[in-house]
Amino acid sequence: MTTKRILVVDNEAKMRRILELSLKAMGHEVAQAADGQEALGMIDAGAFDLVLTDLRMPRLDGIGLLTALRDADNDVPVIVMTAYGTIETAVAAMKVGAADYIIRPFEMETIEMAVTRALTMQVVQRENRFLKEEVSRGWGDFIGTSAPMQALYDLLRQAAPARSSIFIVGETGTGKELVARAVHVASGRRGLFVPINCAAIPAELLESELFGHVKGAFTGAVRDRIGKCELASGGTLFLDEITEMPAPLQAKLLRVLQEGVIEKVGGNAATPVDLRVVAATNRDPQQSVDAGVLRRDLYFRLNVVRVDVPLLRDRRGDIPLLVDYFVHKYALELSRPAPTLSPEALAVLEAYPWPGNVRELENLVERAMVLCRGDTITVDHLPAELAPSRTVAVSVPPSPTSPPVDTDDLALRPHIDELERRLIVQALEKAGQNKSAAARLLEISERALWYKIKRHGLS
Ligand SMILES: Nc1ncnc2c1ncn2[C@@H]1O[C@H](COP(=O)(O)OP(=O)(O)OP(=O)(O)O)[C@@H](O)[C@H]1O
Ligand SMILES: [Mg+2]
Repeated sequence: MTTKRILVVDNEAKMRRILELSLKAMGHEVAQAADGQEALGMIDAGAFDLVLTDLRMPRLDGIGLLTALRDADNDVPVIVMTAYGTIETAVAAMKVGAADYIIRPFEMETIEMAVTRALTMQVVQRENRFLKEEVSRGWGDFIGTSAPMQALYDLLRQAAPARSSIFIVGETGTGKELVARAVHVASGRRGLFVPINCAAIPAELLESELFGHVKGAFTGAVRDRIGKCELASGGTLFLDEITEMPAPLQAKLLRVLQEGVIEKVGGNAATPVDLRVVAATNRDPQQSVDAGVLRRDLYFRLNVVRVDVPLLRDRRGDIPLLVDYFVHKYALELSRPAPTLSPEALAVLEAYPWPGNVRELENLVERAMVLCRGDTITVDHLPAELAPSRTVAVSVPPSPTSPPVDTDDLALRPHIDELERRLIVQALEKAGQNKSAAARLLEISERALWYKIKRHGLS
């Protein structure tokens, strides 16, 4: 965890000192206040990431401090400390918005855990708020404010409420499934959104998937089964990769759409269905028709409203918004603060042709977030093939030039210890003696680093 600013509020100087020391050992900056009144004077908006306060103090007590903060719309997390036997007060503090409470006497470990948890929760809440904010980043679940996306939103708003079939065309990763779901949501149809991927299901099973089967219809049909069409009745059936559907089945599907009834495989009763169909393909549908892969009559039936999903390279202006959105999405998933993107890295992303469209961008941001341990995503966190001209900077840790190993002494332990000590010294130097940064460089926890520093007598 990066360095945070923590305010310790307690009327006992000794207690403040102990807390300060242990929080500093965790790598945080610590300030002290002797009571609620003094604390209030120090807390401007954003001045501290966390407040750790005693409950019983002269002038302004912990509850008073907490109430004053919340009244001032300051949502800094507050952990209250209370003596055993006054647990009711702690509960009262939780009710007015404390993040957590700790009962005295406590082990330092308890404080450390509570602090870490409160800080993590704060990141999570902040990211959640970001993702939910109704700023103009797009429409529904879509991100993008470019002209091609605006045109898409307009078309969807118009076409969704009607029952007409919609045919979505777009390269892989452009968001075809997102479009299909948006159509369903905006249609106001009360039934389910039921996707079926015609490419993912073996041809011989597809018919029973779509229409269901009766018991004994074929080997393995041990009981009646309801199909996707029936499931989607009253809702929306999404036929993904429609060109992969075998031609005979395309004919049957067309009949279902025309007549509004299905027949289960092996059965002879007709069940009425109320379907709204949305189909999608990443191929050119006219070519598929000409090649005899997609039946012309089915195509006409499905292609009432055609929706072309813009390619990412045709709406590069949306790339910063998308990156920002995915960075926050993965920050939330990883419970960490959202890193920013260096201008060079953004320039690389804006120049790339994006054959895999938004999905490729999303995967790339996720990968960069895993590689980036600091607070800035740089070109080094992007795959080398994105910027072919760039000389690939391989970051090899400076090899600690060891003295020649005394070959008479091959005991592993002391040599490893020595190497560990040197790497720690180097990491601390590189991190300007900041322990949390050094721990990140060493890829160990701050706690582990703390123990190792003590063990090697480095503090
Ligand atoms: N405009 C957008 N805003 C936010 N996320 C998007 C957008 N477009 C696509 N995505 C995301 O990109 C990923 C791929 O989208 P989706 O699965 O809808 O693509 P697709 O066109 O169906 O791809 P394929 O042809 O490979 O099936 C999903 O995680 C989706 O949420
Ligand atoms: Mg898809």
